[in-house]
Amino acid sequence: MDWRRRSVLLFLAICFLLRSQAAAGDNTWDLTEEEESELERKLKTLNKPYVKSFKDEYGTTYDCVDIYKQPAFDHPLLKNHTLQFPKRGGNTNKESRINQTLPQLCPIGTVLIRRTTKEDLIRAKKYAPQIQSRTQPQQAETAATSGGATHHAGVAFEVKKGPNYYGTSADLDVFQLSGISINQASTSQIILTKGERGPKNYINTVQAGWHVEHQMEGDDRVHFFIYWTSDDYQKTGCLNLLCPGFVQTSTRITPGQIYTLHSLSLSIYRDRFTSNWMLYNDREPIGYWPKEIFNNLADCSQVQIGGFAYSPFDEASPPMGSGVLFGAKFTNVVLVDGQGNNRKPEDFAAFHDLSQDYYGTSYSINNGVLSYGGPGGWKKT
Ligand SMILES: *[C@@H]1O[C@H](CO)[C@@H](O)[C@H](O)[C@H]1NC(C)=O
Ligand SMILES: *[C@@H]1O[C@H](CO)[C@@H](O)[C@H](O)[C@H]1NC(C)=O
Repeated sequence: MDWRRRSVLLFLAICFLLRSQAAAGDNTWDLTEEEESELERKLKTLNKPYVKSFKDEYGTTYDCVDIYKQPAFDHPLLKNHTLQFPKRGGNTNKESRINQTLPQLCPIGTVLIRRTTKEDLIRAKKYAPQIQSRTQPQQAETAATSGGATHHAGVAFEVKKGPNYYGTSADLDVFQLSGISINQASTSQIILTKGERGPKNYINTVQAGWHVEHQMEGDDRVHFFIYWTSDDYQKTGCLNLLCPGFVQTSTRITPGQIYTLHSLSLSIYRDRFTSNWMLYNDREPIGYWPKEIFNNLADCSQVQIGGFAYSPFDEASPPMGSGVLFGAKFTNVVLVDGQGNNRKPEDFAAFHDLSQDYYGTSYSINNGVLSYGGPGGWKKT
């Protein structure tokens, strides 16, 4: 080895060391006293007194909270809200495939809530810009993301003419993806949007799916998640139950829980009588987003389903879907009209921003099947 190569190697080694140190420093939390007490105050309001509490096998704590005393009702716009008890059912008549994935159910009259930790709130604060940029629907012009890139592979149903949509449902394959670094994310989700072409303050979304999202969830496991915003991710909304808004009704499945089953069978639709946005997994009503928390979601003008993969520029992009090209599916993709009936989209647009060396998208309008995903591996050169 000549001296030139040796010095290059030495230089690279030093860079690597410096970077690891920076990364380590990145994971220490330096909170001011003020921030500290703010977090403590927030924790106290989010974690309500519980009737019963238990841990899953991964050490996550769940609380069974009186359904009327859940954090959602701290939202100022829900002061006069009338609690809705969703019926079991959803829009399918097949037997429920949703098996209990937690060691215990919550007693009747309570709801299952993943307990928020201080670390959850710190990460949410610290990574807010990243989370904000990579949670959004795919746009015509990709929004600049802080220090990284989000890649998309999916399909968008946009209302061009005719009435808007009032809901959607799809069965999602769920894969226990590995190989996603602490700085990366891989998400499969449904996003219903209204106002996507208008002013930011009127961009409303409801979202649900599964992801590996270390910066949001605090580990590299697959989590069931939800998200909502009523101002384009600026001041309103959040992941899971990290802020008041979503009303939890289930005693057995809750946003943010580690999800070990092989499929999600999600339905999101606007209830014709209450106008709340209901969320089901198969026949199990998880809960709903109350109409009061939105300013522009009487219906929705765009539905997106697909995979979203985020990586900082200095890392190769992570696997999406199953990690195999076209290896994951959304099946039985259905849009819902104002009467609660299934509606065929008049139009769809498949989207993916990278070649099939990385991720693919293929949608069949006749079968309502989206095949997507891939190994990733894209890196900015
Ligand atoms: C709740 O109801 C009261 C009395 O009708 C009304 O004054 C108040 O504005 C309502 N609050 C909200 C958030 O709707
Ligand atoms: C639920 O899980 C049990 C044990 O894992 C399994 O034997 C059973 O078939 C599952 N039921 C359904 C409906 O998937």
